[in-house]
Amino acid sequence: MKILVLKETAAHEGRVSITPETIKKLVDQGHEVLIEKDAGKSSGIADNLYTAAGAKISKDATKDIAKVDLVTVVSFDSMDQVKGIKEGTVFVGLMKPYQNTKLLKDLAKKKVTALALELIPRISRAQAMDVLSSQSNLAGYKAVVDSAAEYGRALPMMMTAAGTIPPARVLVLGAGVAGLQAIATAKRMGAVVSAFDVRPAVKEQVESLGASFVEVEADESGDSGGGYAKEMSDDYKRRQSEKLAEVIKNQDIVVTTALIPGKPAPILITANMVKSMKEGSIIYDLAVENGGNCELAEFDKMVMKHGVKIIGHANVPSRIGFDASQVFGRNIFNLLKIMVNSNAELDVNFDDEIIKGCCLTHDGAIVHPNFL
Ligand code: NAI
Repeated sequence: MKILVLKETAAHEGRVSITPETIKKLVDQGHEVLIEKDAGKSSGIADNLYTAAGAKISKDATKDIAKVDLVTVVSFDSMDQVKGIKEGTVFVGLMKPYQNTKLLKDLAKKKVTALALELIPRISRAQAMDVLSSQSNLAGYKAVVDSAAEYGRALPMMMTAAGTIPPARVLVLGAGVAGLQAIATAKRMGAVVSAFDVRPAVKEQVESLGASFVEVEADESGDSGGGYAKEMSDDYKRRQSEKLAEVIKNQDIVVTTALIPGKPAPILITANMVKSMKEGSIIYDLAVENGGNCELAEFDKMVMKHGVKIIGHANVPSRIGFDASQVFGRNIFNLLKIMVNSNAELDVNFDDEIIKGCCLTHDGAIVHPNFL
């Protein structure tokens, strides 16, 4: 199979979809890999590392794209990226299908087989292909490290000859993949950590990491199945808001990660809650790309409101670009394993649960039930 790895063009995208480590494995399996010139540059990976791993550099990807069987990208955001792609080519990447409805139609028109990595089903067999998990995990870590750097005080308790410095209090809202990693990172850094999520199953996971779970008294569960949350009732939202208003006043750092698939992120921190926080506190809104969990967070900005620094960095995994790209590439490699035959030729089984789950367009049509 011939593969082309594209250079990213989306704003704020600093990752690359395949790194030399994965190129080597692909080449060993008999695949031919072309990588667009400078594709790894923003992740700190120079072209010569790619060629040393067995890839060839593509100086004109718009021409080369017509010669390959499969194209990979991290973020798909414009048809210009795939100008010249030929009919029947498989195109793999984060497709943002809920936002990119027009682009989906264009891909279908071009008869491209588009596989959206964010739609890979969350089943055990697909865990090693799950880019949402691999990227969220790093984002959760980076959110705490960035917050600690912005916070003007120490995180762990320090007993010194000059007296004791109390530990910072960190609250994590949304304890999914990013949230659990944020909890673990803040614990390792010595903070006193608490967390909240609408899915009751999470309580045990939070506590097993040594954090306390903030309970909202309600009969409603936020679990919509498969580990995802659903939108809560107005009554639940009111109770949750009251509880958070009570807890947030005592926090030094709040990391928010709450998302509902296909919907805007729920607003959990109101302007009044920000006002009630201590001067010098930090809010790090990891959901800012989906509208934000904090009413006052601004996309791609760090703003000071009521003495609280609110961080809304765009594309947090890109801020840890090398590692994020490394695991992204491994996720793609694991997906490709189920798409090739023993002769290293592309051989996609469209009845496979994983392919069915993430295939958006094929043979001239949009095929995914969520986007028909
Ligand atoms: P996500 O990124 O969609 O959401 C993040 C978290 O926000 C979730 O835990 C969700 O419950 C929470 N949330 C949503 N609305 C909220 C609200 N109003 N208040 C507070 N929290 C709210 O989810 P993520 O992190 O991608 O995955 C969630 C879970 O899915 C994981 O913890 C795991 O149990 C499961 N999972 C299973 C996998 C597999 O079996 N292959 C792979 C990855 C995750």
